[in-house]
Amino acid sequence: MSATDKKRGAAQASLEFIPPGTTLGVGTGSTVNFLIELLPGLRDNIDRIVSSSRATTALLEEQGFEVLTLNQVNGELDVYIDGADETTKRLHLIKGGGGALTREKVLAGAARRFVCIVDDSKFVGMLGKFPLPIEVLPMAQEAVGRHLLKLRGQPIWREGFVTDNGNHILDVHDLQIANPVELEDRLNRIPGVVTVGIFARRPADVLLIASDDGVRELRA
Ligand code: 5RP
Repeated sequence: MSATDKKRGAAQASLEFIPPGTTLGVGTGSTVNFLIELLPGLRDNIDRIVSSSRATTALLEEQGFEVLTLNQVNGELDVYIDGADETTKRLHLIKGGGGALTREKVLAGAARRFVCIVDDSKFVGMLGKFPLPIEVLPMAQEAVGRHLLKLRGQPIWREGFVTDNGNHILDVHDLQIANPVELEDRLNRIPGVVTVGIFARRPADVLLIASDDGVRELRA
């Protein structure tokens, strides 16, 4: 089965987490884009919808949804569905390959349930092979980079990319993330860091992993 078919399968499996009356948060990326294609079929179940990026908002609007801000739904979501760049069996994630990590982290934190949809290439024993995205204030980029070098990471500026919040991304190579909660906290304390792409303090609640054998569900 191709990666595309697996992504579509994981997206399809997540539909069961959208019962009638749902206030839904929608993530960003190619896996979530399959979900967005399927959402019109569940329109009656979706009370209100909130997006994690300009790109996702544009796609949802193409499907005829009125996209609300998180403030307009009083800062609370029933369900947030999003992809990931890496995940472990403890449902710790690396996110931000698409650069939307800050709004994604806000929506995940506002959700009663966070459902993560991936193909099996994203499932790893330890986080860190995928370069860790960190959103930084542009004026702090060099200073944050120096801190990261001290932690033995190799930060690479995602040149030419500006986030929806007007910030920059450093992709940090060569990190061995044996303790994701501890590293997330540590990186969050560096002045100028806006958001770290480790989602361990608030991991997913449900992981749907698509493989050749179908979609497997893991729970935290
Ligand atoms: C965007 C993300 C995405 O969820 C992550 O990059 C996975 O993307 P894809 O579904 O295209 O593999 O974190 O910021």
